[in-house]
This record gives sequence, C-alpha cells and structure tokens, in this order.
Amino acid sequence: MIVEQVLSSGLAGSALSASAAGVPRRLRRMTGRSGARRSTTRSSTATKAGRRTRLPMRGDLAASDAIMLRRGAATLLGQAAAQKLSQNAAAITTSAATLSQSWFADVPMAPKDPILGITEAYLATKRQDKINLGVGAYRDDDSKPVVLEVVRKAESRIAGSEFMEYLPIGGLKAFNDLSVKLAYGEDADCIKEGRVAAVQSLSGTGSCRLMAEFMKRYMPGAKIWIPKPTWSNHHNIWRDAGVEEAIYRYYKPETRGLDQEGLLEDLGMAKQGDLVLLHACAHNPTGVDPTVEQWQEISKVMKEKKLFPFFDMAYQGFASGDCTRDAQAIRTFLADGHQLGCSQSYAKNMGLYGQRTGCFSLITASPEETSAVESQMKAIARPMYSNPPLHGALIVKEILGDEGLKQQWYDEVKGMADRIITMRALLRKNLEDMGNPLPWNHITEQIGMFCFSGISPEQVDRLAQEHAIFMTRNGRISMAGVTTKNVGRLSEALHQVTTA
Ligand SMILES: Cc1ncc(COP(=O)(O)O)c(C=O)c1O
Repeated sequence: MIVEQVLSSGLAGSALSASAAGVPRRLRRMTGRSGARRSTTRSSTATKAGRRTRLPMRGDLAASDAIMLRRGAATLLGQAAAQKLSQNAAAITTSAATLSQSWFADVPMAPKDPILGITEAYLATKRQDKINLGVGAYRDDDSKPVVLEVVRKAESRIAGSEFMEYLPIGGLKAFNDLSVKLAYGEDADCIKEGRVAAVQSLSGTGSCRLMAEFMKRYMPGAKIWIPKPTWSNHHNIWRDAGVEEAIYRYYKPETRGLDQEGLLEDLGMAKQGDLVLLHACAHNPTGVDPTVEQWQEISKVMKEKKLFPFFDMAYQGFASGDCTRDAQAIRTFLADGHQLGCSQSYAKNMGLYGQRTGCFSLITASPEETSAVESQMKAIARPMYSNPPLHGALIVKEILGDEGLKQQWYDEVKGMADRIITMRALLRKNLEDMGNPLPWNHITEQIGMFCFSGISPEQVDRLAQEHAIFMTRNGRISMAGVTTKNVGRLSEALHQVTTA
C-alpha cells in the first residue's frame, strides 16, 4: 500500500496506525486493503520481510490524494515527522503520476455511429459532384439546409423578449397544449376530458427516452416490441433504460413493402401489457407505412391482446404534406379506445433540429390519473436535465397559436414534402426510362424522408467508391439529399451498380 510504503520508508517502527483518530476518512479509505481505487489489475511485490505490498497503480494517487496524505500524516505525527513523510509522499506521488496518465486510460472507443461514418467519407472525398444521401435532415434543391420563413417570422416576434428564465420541469404549458392538439386532433375527447399527461421533451429522442424510463418504473416486466428494421437509436434508448426488447417483423424485402402478416403474427406472441413501438408515419428507415386498413387491423389485434401502443411521430406533416393525414394512425387507435403514448418532434417538420423541441404525452383514464402520471414524468425529467430548452418551444407556440402562422407552416411543410415526392417520381422515372430491369415502384410507394432502395451493401460500396455517392449500407437513401441537379447522376449510378 502506498501509505504503508511511506510509513515504512519514512517512519519505520511507528506505532501509529492509519486508522488512528484524526486521519481523514478519505485517507483511511486509501489505506484500507480493499481501498485501491480505479485499478482493474493488481500487481504486488515481495518486501524483504516477505510481506506482499501492492505497487502503486495507475490512478492510485492523484494530486488531491497527496494533499490529504500530507494533512493526515501531520495530524498523526506532528510537523517534524510529517515533513520527512511529506518528502516521501511527494516522491511517490511523482512516480504515481507518471504511472497515472489519466483516470480514463482504460475507457475503450465506442463503436462509430454509422451516419457519422458516411459524413466523414463524404467530406474526405475531393470530387466536386459528390452526393451525401446519408443525413436525415432536409435540404433544398440547392442541397442547402433550410430555415422555414414561418420560423423566422416567429423568431422576430419573440426577439427581444426578456424571458430567459428556466422553464418549469414539464416545459412551456402552452406549447404542450398546442402540441397534443396537433397530435390527437383539436377536438379530441382525451384532451377535452383532461386525459392527456404531457411534458415538453428534448425532441423525439428525449421523448422516447422519457417513455423508456417511465416504462421501466411503471410498466414493470413489460417488453418493448420494436419493428425490424427501425431507427437504430430506438434500440439504444430502451437498452439504456434497462427494458427488455423484442422484435416484430415489419419490412418484406421481396416486395419492398410491409410484412403485415409477419407483423401481426409476431405481435400475436406479445404478452398482455407489453409496449409496441409504432412509427406514426414515414417509417425510418424503410419509408413503408401501413395503409389505413392495415392500421385498423393492427389496432384491433393490439386492443384484443391488451398491448400498449407508443407512437414515435418524428415526421408529422413531413410525410404527406398534411399534418392531419400523417396523424391518421394515431386517430385510428384513439377511435378504437386505446390509451396510448406519443413522442412528437419538431426537428424535421419545423426544421428545429438543433433546438431540441418535442413533446411526450400519455393518454390516461381520468384527470386524477393525468396529474399523477404527469408528476412522475417530471420526476423522471428533473434529474436528467432539470428542464427543457426555451427557444424552440417559444417558436412552436407562436406558430401553432396563431392561425395565420399555422397556415403558413402547413404550406411550408407541404412544400418540403412535395419536393421530396417530386424527387421520388423523377428518380423512378429515370431508372425506368433507362430500361433498368429491376422494379422501382417502391420509390414512389414509400413515403417520407427515406427510400429503402433495396440495393445490397456491396452496391452501396460501389456507389461510394466509383460515383462518390454516399448512403447507409442498408441501402437507405435520404431523399432530402436528392435534387433536380443531382437526380440524373444518381439515377445513372444506380443503374450502373444494379446492372453491371
Ligand atoms: C423515427 C425517429 N424517431 C426519432 C427521431 C429523433 O429525432 P429528434 O430527436 O432529432 O427529434 C428520428 C430522427 O431521425 C427518427 O427518425
């Protein structure tokens, strides 16, 4: 032990023990047999007396520890003896510091986020005509990021506002009220009857995380059923919350469409009380959404089996250009009398990506239940981030709270959705006009930001290497990256890698 070495080298034979009164607790902890901190491997050496003494390990003795050591020694031994001890401690601290490069030297590198890898490869490519189809953020026809006009207008209204205070834990109440109306409908019974518990969240990711934590506490033993494939962060979010995951079939590669049969069969195996994660619209990464009839079937099965629906709605309005139509699935479940949960994000549909603006809501059975549930949502949020950000919530409140601005937003979100729909049509037409033998109908049948093209990982690699066109290896094309200027080159490259 370090202190043992100090004592034996500086004050051999001292009757004093490190556990004597007056030694600071932290010092005693350091001197205890099991007190070695942060070392995973232990090494030892034999002293002359045959006693095995552990050598100082990386991280054993930090500068603050040395101060404690000297103070403790002074208490124990008096100033003169402590001075000698202090010199020895200093020497050992220096050698420990040499060993101790960092507290974090043993932290391994986390796996790279696949999307970040694409961006890196894209940036590293020198070609002027390179295309990035990896990012999940909207771009205009010049491949530029967009700030909506209506957002600028709302910003000018809130500019100069003196209000920079903390929001309450649950966020801006007016924002929450307007958000749930957007999701469930202006006249939804659950809202009128005070049966919606809602808090402002850190965008869609934050909403999902709150749901996962809430589920862990108040739906004990329930599994989360996640579609295959899904937005990859879903797995991480529920895993980190310690919730067990089950997978249900969703996508059928042969048809490049929905595997409704597999989906219903898998959900048939779920146990009463399990939670099913559903993408409300514009499924990421496939772009495949159930039809109205298929949603009705899913709702019916889930009602019978008493499964809890949780809708991740990251693209309301962005899919079809119509916010009501994109909330159709949720409205179907409401009509069937489900209690459900919803994650809303304003990242894509208002372009508020970095403002982290979202809403997490749960439908309850009564106003009393709403109060209790909401109080627990806040109890979860408080130690995580205390309270949500203000700026985005004020913008959304301005827009949704003003009929004129709301209409302008509807028009602008439709503009974004329509641009993407047009690019889908162009891409498909080009490939068909080139006489490509593969079916490409799925490009226009899928909806939202992504097109699950169906090309293989090897073909994706060829697109990157031979054509400087980048996308995730599962063949997902971010349609937001397709423009009138690059769709021709993209079509030709796709034609080449799928035919030669
Ligand atoms: C299905 C889905 N859910 C949630 C999110 C989270 O988005 P954010 O946290 O930026 O709102 C995304 C983003 O890509 C998504 O595609």
